[in-house]
Amino acid sequence: MGTLSILVLNGPNLSRLGKREPEIYGTLTLDDINRGLAESFPEVAFDFFQSEDEGVLIEKLFQAEDNGSCSGVVLNAGALTHYSIALRDAISAIKLPVVEVHLSNIYAREEFRRTSVISEVCRGVISGFGVTSYHLGVRAILECVQEKDVPSD
Ligand code: DQA
Repeated sequence: MGTLSILVLNGPNLSRLGKREPEIYGTLTLDDINRGLAESFPEVAFDFFQSEDEGVLIEKLFQAEDNGSCSGVVLNAGALTHYSIALRDAISAIKLPVVEVHLSNIYAREEFRRTSVISEVCRGVISGFGVTSYHLGVRAILECVQEKDVPSD
């Protein structure tokens, strides 16, 4: 198998990590998180991308699907998780496995965060482990690619 490519896609406000509510999201910046992933998975060719904009994130998903070399997507959609039917439809429209990740445990927070409109169309969900959520997300994609022990329904 050649080099595996994984898209790590972050949505609105995740550019503010490090400064933003560190008691909830930790003190690492998004660059720190991405650097940690690159160090932990040297065999993976990462595409790290963040946007505040729903449409740009959707276009990025389609590009990843169309370029043919991407194996899967680790997605922290931020607040879009809770209401973006457009993002959900985009995930549903592509064949790439998408793993939904969150730094915080969205089920242990405010009521409005306990609904994810994207979970149903994602391959799985990892929520509540801080930066480790991203690392587990990458591992999940690697498992999907190797088709090991991850039942699809
Ligand atoms: C988040 C949780 C969301 O509810 C929130 O809007 C975020 C970050 C997380 O990583 O814990 O922006 O996705």
